[in-house]
Amino acid sequence: MKYAILGDIHANLEALTVVLAKAEEENVDKYVCIGDIVGYNSNPHECLELLMQLPLVGAVRGNHDEYAVRELDLAGFNAQAAAAIQWTRQQLNGKECEWLRALPYRLNVVDNGCRFQIVHGTLDSPEHWGYIFDRYNAAASMQYQGLQLCFCGHTHCPVCFDRHLNGSIQDGGYESVKLMTNHKYLFNVGSVGQPRDGDWRAALAIYDTKAATVTLHRLEYDVAACQEKILAAGLPQRLADRLAYGV
Ligand SMILES: [Fe+2]
Repeated sequence: MKYAILGDIHANLEALTVVLAKAEEENVDKYVCIGDIVGYNSNPHECLELLMQLPLVGAVRGNHDEYAVRELDLAGFNAQAAAAIQWTRQQLNGKECEWLRALPYRLNVVDNGCRFQIVHGTLDSPEHWGYIFDRYNAAASMQYQGLQLCFCGHTHCPVCFDRHLNGSIQDGGYESVKLMTNHKYLFNVGSVGQPRDGDWRAALAIYDTKAATVTLHRLEYDVAACQEKILAAGLPQRLADRLAYGV
């Protein structure tokens, strides 16, 4: 079984289209969504529509999803992010809001004998939207990780945290990781629609259960088209600019 793990799509249709084409080319069977489907970019409808058509075995809520469908105070967001959430609130229809509202904060995916966890931010308190930047943050989250494998997002930076039998955690970027028995793994799958690791290309992680591997693909997409639509929608210039740099 092959699962495509989609993180932080953020309404970027150009990036999502390329990612889904690659997943198909890789003969992915099913899909998982790590949240932040909307926010920042200009195609929330189109991205939600595409997602709803996929064979999704699990999806969790991101902070942008939550704030887009609830009238919560936006003081915790920077000015551009808040402007995009306010814009997104005016775009979403009733069905889309209902679908986003139903997403859980964390989920144990059980599918055809495969089991893994998914969460947007942290496993210890996902509703507070904390970030896992380093091994110390990862250790706190992994205490709540009941399964060997967990996928997360939120920082928009792909990283693998690998906890050994002796409890020590190694971390680093990854291209392909072979899963070892008795190790526990927490993978940040990076971002489809707004990467921030200095690489502007869209991220797609694929979990292959037969090979016991997690592989990260980085894919070029039409950034200029996405930028044009951001500006045409009246969203902040900075949201268009940052896509070209992956920041
Ligand atoms: Fe995000």
